Amino acid sequence: MKQKYKPLFEPFTFQSGVTIPNRITVAPMTHYSSNEDGTISDWEISYIIPRSKEMGMVITACANVTPNGKAFPGQPAIHDDSHIPGLRRLAETIQSQGAKAIVQIHHGGLECPPELVPDEDVVSPSGAEENGSQTARALTEQEVEHIVKAFGDATRRAIEAGFDGVEIHGANGYLIQQFYSPKTNQRTDRWGGSAEKRLAFPLAVVDAAKKAIAEHAKAPFVLGYRLSPEEPETPGLTMTETFMLVDALAEKNLDYLHISLMDVHSKARRGADVTRTRMDLLNERVGQKVPLIAVGSIYTADEALAVIESGIPLVALGRVILIDPEWAVKIKESREQDIEKVIKASDKEKYRLPDPLWEMIKNTRGWVPFEE
Ligand SMILES: Cc1cc2nc3c(=O)[nH]c(=O)nc-3n(C[C@H](O)[C@H](O)[C@H](O)COP(=O)(O)O)c2cc1C
Repeated sequence: MKQKYKPLFEPFTFQSGVTIPNRITVAPMTHYSSNEDGTISDWEISYIIPRSKEMGMVITACANVTPNGKAFPGQPAIHDDSHIPGLRRLAETIQSQGAKAIVQIHHGGLECPPELVPDEDVVSPSGAEENGSQTARALTEQEVEHIVKAFGDATRRAIEAGFDGVEIHGANGYLIQQFYSPKTNQRTDRWGGSAEKRLAFPLAVVDAAKKAIAEHAKAPFVLGYRLSPEEPETPGLTMTETFMLVDALAEKNLDYLHISLMDVHSKARRGADVTRTRMDLLNERVGQKVPLIAVGSIYTADEALAVIESGIPLVALGRVILIDPEWAVKIKESREQDIEKVIKASDKEKYRLPDPLWEMIKNTRGWVPFEE
C-alpha cells in the first residue's frame, strides 16, 4: 500500500468498545434479493463475500422491523425470530472476511408500496392522500408504541444473530424521518407538533435499541444512526432542524452518526451557512461528541483520503462497491489505479450481483454507471 493511504487503514474504536480494522465502510444497499419471507438468500451471501474483504465495517441492506414496514420486494426482514438463522449466516459471512457486521433496521412508513404490506394497509405518522384518495393511514398511538418496541426487538434479534451492531435507518424519507419532518408529521399528540415533539419518535427508537443492547448484549455492540440532513421541499427539514436532531442524538452515547448524502461535498440549502458543506457544518456541530460517517459519490482512494484528512473519521462507499468489490483490496495492494468506474454488461458473472439488483442497475442507467 502507498504510504499516503495509511490513514484509511488505521483501526478505529467506537465508544461502545468495538474496534473496526479500518475506516472504510460498505454503505447499506438494498439488493431486492432476499427470499419471499424476508429470510436471507444464497444470492446475498455470494454478493457480500467479495464486498467484505479489507473493509472495516459492512452495513447490510435495510431490514424491516415489522411486516408493514416493508418498502422493497426482496427486502431482508428482522421482524420475527424465524429470521435469525439467516441473519446469523449473513453476519458470519461478513465477519469471516475480517469486517464488522452491522444490520440496518428500518420501517418504510409512507414509502411502502401497498402490495408489499399486509392488507395493503400503508401507515405513516399522519396518513396521506393523493388525487383525493387515501394512500396511507395515520398510525394510532398504540401502533406507534408497537413500532418503537419493534425496533428494540429487531436489535435483540441482531444481537442473537451475532451482528456487531445495528444502524437505525433514520434517513432517506422513511418512517423515522417522516416523524421528524414537518412535511409528513402533523400529529397533535405526543408524537407531533413542535420540532421537539417531532423528535420524540426518533429518540424513542434510539432508547428502545439501547435498552435491548443493555439487556441482551454480552459483548460491546455498536449502535449507529443514519440521517438525511435536509429535505428539498418547504415545509421540510432544514439544517436548523437537523442541528436540533444531531444535538439530541449526540447526548445518546451513540457510536456514530451516518450522514446520508448523494454528494459528500453538497452545501447547505437553508437554515445554515449556505457557503459551507453539510458535512463540515455537522462535524463542527457534533463531531467532538460523536464520530460521523461520510458518504456520497466517493469513488477514488484520494477522494476517500481527503474526507479522512478533513477530520471526518469514517467513510462509506455505496455504488463504487457494486462496480468494484475489490476497491479496498486494490488500494491495499497499491493497485488503486485499477479501481473500476463502470459496470460492464459483458462481465456480468464477475460482479456477483443478484439478478434483481443487476436488472435494476441496468434499467436505471446512469444512477450506477453501466455500459453495454
Ligand atoms: C442500489 C442501492 C441501494 C441502496 N439501499 C439503501 C439502503 O437500504 N439503506 C440506505 O440507508 N441507503 C441505501 N442506499 C444509499 C447508499 O447507502 C448511499 O448513501 C448512496 O448510494 C450514496 O453513496 P454512493 O455515492 O457511494 O453510492 C442505496 C443505494 C444504492 C445505489
